[in-house]
Amino acid sequence: MARILFVCLGNICRSPTAEGVIRHFAMTRGSDHEIDSAGTGGWHAGDPPDARMSAAALQRGIDLSAQKARQVCVDDFYRFTHIYAMDAQNLADLEAIRPKDARAELALFLGEGDVPDPYYGGPDGFEHVLDLVEARCADLLEKLA
Ligand code: 4NP
Repeated sequence: MARILFVCLGNICRSPTAEGVIRHFAMTRGSDHEIDSAGTGGWHAGDPPDARMSAAALQRGIDLSAQKARQVCVDDFYRFTHIYAMDAQNLADLEAIRPKDARAELALFLGEGDVPDPYYGGPDGFEHVLDLVEARCADLLEKLA
């Protein structure tokens, strides 16, 4: 069983989507992973996911409504086995606070390239996040099986 943490900037768009999608896929497959998400920033701590992101996810059968944003913390590097950053800036911010003795695997969620931040853009951005996240989460579950 893996313990997986997804991290973006605000924890209201990209990483909650990855959390919701992989949880949904894992339930369908009967995989038993611990799954969470967090933001490098704390501005939205306690908030539900962005309403535009939640609506787009729900259209695909993914319910994000029970999730609440939180800021990533140093303890996360010990608690989780895999930490996935949604973009290169998120990865750099995580590397800057990563304790030297922490064993969690830290990597870009897509392996290469960023999941673009949809926050200031139009509706297409949220659909694009879902397309990227759905494809990658299916691969991740295969890899972690
Ligand atoms: P996220 O998107 O990192 O995918 O959750 C953002 C949400 C909020 C902000 C930026 C990005 N913000 O600047 O408040």
